[in-house]
Amino acid sequence: MASPTESTAIEALLHEERVFPPDPAFTRNANVNDPGVYERAQSDPEAFWADWARQLDWIKPWDTVCTWDPPHAQWFVGGQINVSANCLDRHLKTARRNKAAIIFEGEPGDTRVLTYHDLWREVNRFAGVLKNLGVNKGDRVTIYLPMIPEAAVAMLACTRIGAPHSVVFGGFSADSLRERINDSQSKVLITSDGGFRRGNVVPLKAACDAALDGGACPSIESVIVFNRTTTDESQTPMQAGRDHWWHRLLEDAPRLVEPEPMDSEDPLYILYTSGSTGKPKGILHTTGGYLTQVHATTKCVFDLKDEDVYWCTADVGWVTGHSYVVYGPLAAGATVLMYEGAPDFPARDRFWALVEKYGVTILYTAPTAIRAFMKWGTEHPDKHDMTSLRLLGSVGEPINPEAWMWYHEHIGGGRCPVVDTWWQTETGAIMITPLPGLVATKPGSATRPFPGIEADVVDEQGNSVPPGGGGFLVLRRPWPSMLRTLWGDDARYRQVYWSRFDGRFYFAGDGAKRDEDGYFWLLGRVDDVMLVAGHNISTMEVESALVDHPSVAEAAVIGRTHEIKGQAIAAFVTVKDGTGATPEFAAELKEHVSKKLGAICRPDDILFSAELPKTRSGKIMRRLLRDIAEGRALGDTTTLADPNVVSSLKDRYESQEG
Ligand code: WT7
Repeated sequence: MASPTESTAIEALLHEERVFPPDPAFTRNANVNDPGVYERAQSDPEAFWADWARQLDWIKPWDTVCTWDPPHAQWFVGGQINVSANCLDRHLKTARRNKAAIIFEGEPGDTRVLTYHDLWREVNRFAGVLKNLGVNKGDRVTIYLPMIPEAAVAMLACTRIGAPHSVVFGGFSADSLRERINDSQSKVLITSDGGFRRGNVVPLKAACDAALDGGACPSIESVIVFNRTTTDESQTPMQAGRDHWWHRLLEDAPRLVEPEPMDSEDPLYILYTSGSTGKPKGILHTTGGYLTQVHATTKCVFDLKDEDVYWCTADVGWVTGHSYVVYGPLAAGATVLMYEGAPDFPARDRFWALVEKYGVTILYTAPTAIRAFMKWGTEHPDKHDMTSLRLLGSVGEPINPEAWMWYHEHIGGGRCPVVDTWWQTETGAIMITPLPGLVATKPGSATRPFPGIEADVVDEQGNSVPPGGGGFLVLRRPWPSMLRTLWGDDARYRQVYWSRFDGRFYFAGDGAKRDEDGYFWLLGRVDDVMLVAGHNISTMEVESALVDHPSVAEAAVIGRTHEIKGQAIAAFVTVKDGTGATPEFAAELKEHVSKKLGAICRPDDILFSAELPKTRSGKIMRRLLRDIAEGRALGDTTTLADPNVVSSLKDRYESQEG
């Protein structure tokens, strides 16, 4: 076993030997295949980013690449640019005019294709609708839509007229919607009657009515409703004077709206992250730097080419949907596949049926989805021809090495590079990632900072931890797509991200270790780190050791109070379909972890569970598992995707204890 000798910020115990160098044929054709890019970007990051910014259309060139008055950065200062013009108008001058921008498939199987010209036309018309409703530059607009092309149309129309949008995920409740509308003081709310999910209609307009009920959102002047699910409009109650059908408003809208010249630092959007507790934080992104970095990373990390069919499975309600469904890929002129519904509707092979049907070449999804696919078994992907795939991506949580291997083998057919991309709503764009033509990958590692990004692993005092050690992940210099502040609360911005190390660097809240090759391995949120007999053990490493067992699909571990050790490890484990959840198997798993990481990491308790409590974006909520294991009343469960999962777990845990 690894035997940690002195107290470190976070132990580094898991050892992974597998390495996958890029295929020389991939490297030859890759968008980035000159290894000198890292050194050049490091010696002059501003020049590196300026080169990327120059690939966009600017209305007025910038005077200064970057100003840094900690903790506030500005990028491309003095420049003027419009995001919709770069995602649309710029392509109309080229052969991309008639290329599919969005290929859409609804959950019921309906399809639509919008070329760049089509999307440009729709965005212009909808920008005209917003103008007619009195939306001016700087006014906020809340968007609460399913995954349909109108979500992209609405976002791009906002950027065309310079109105910052706040997209609220369609799975959030009326209460969450109200809180976000009121914090952003939005003038207009854009929604649909509903959206399709697992064969049902999610009643979005009804949730809007509940959110606005009794004048609860006084800033809202108009609600625009897209008709997605009903043939009979009269089924949707509309409040006269406030609510308007999208298609009716189009009738009187101007056909052309000139893109508003936006200062590079003008707000582009607000996106609320709930975190685990407390009032949601309104992450503010601005215009020129954000677009520069999402465009650069899309081209470099996904190796995006004109002939690709690119599918990022994230909802537009999350930052991944903003940066890698809409802004990055459209700025790069991609063909983007957009799918409305669930991965298991009508059957567990829906994703693979979509890959086959549309010839998807690039797939970007989340570890939570990959672990669900592992649990469901290989027969679902095996039914489909997926030889079109050439690159796979992962984002959202640490990916356990075994999930990485499964993705690589069973989805990628062993031939596709896997890019594990670390970033956050706050960072706006990918920060730590392999460049697929240059960087050998290791299952479970996000590898290296993107060129121009300076990441580090530091100890409690902020000193760099030498290779092999674990600690806190920090970013040492500003980057173009960084959040600029929290909407309306700069003091909280300073406190949350900059106070931990006295303003010296940005603290992401994640633990990480760096190996001898300088590769970064993400260890999970530092709030989740367990303190077992004086050792700081990362949840990620114990979970990965559990998932390393061939019968385990997913695991979540937490530290519960223990009178001798300080904390003992409790593991919640989901087994693959067809595996028995017996006490003998629990004993075998404890032994497995002990062998893999050392006796210190041996779980004291193992509870089998068909589901784990997750946020609506698929992240495991370990805070609630701690409540369960310590016999406390459950804390705030409002951000859970399915609150029943945690209450039934609590009952089972307590009956097992008793
Ligand atoms: C947090 C940010 C990034 C867009 C989606 C999530 C975790 C994200 C990885 C990764 C390990 C990851 C971190 C981060 N995370 N990607 N590749 N490896 N952890 O955005 O909701 O703002 O969450 O997700 O903990 O801080 P978010």
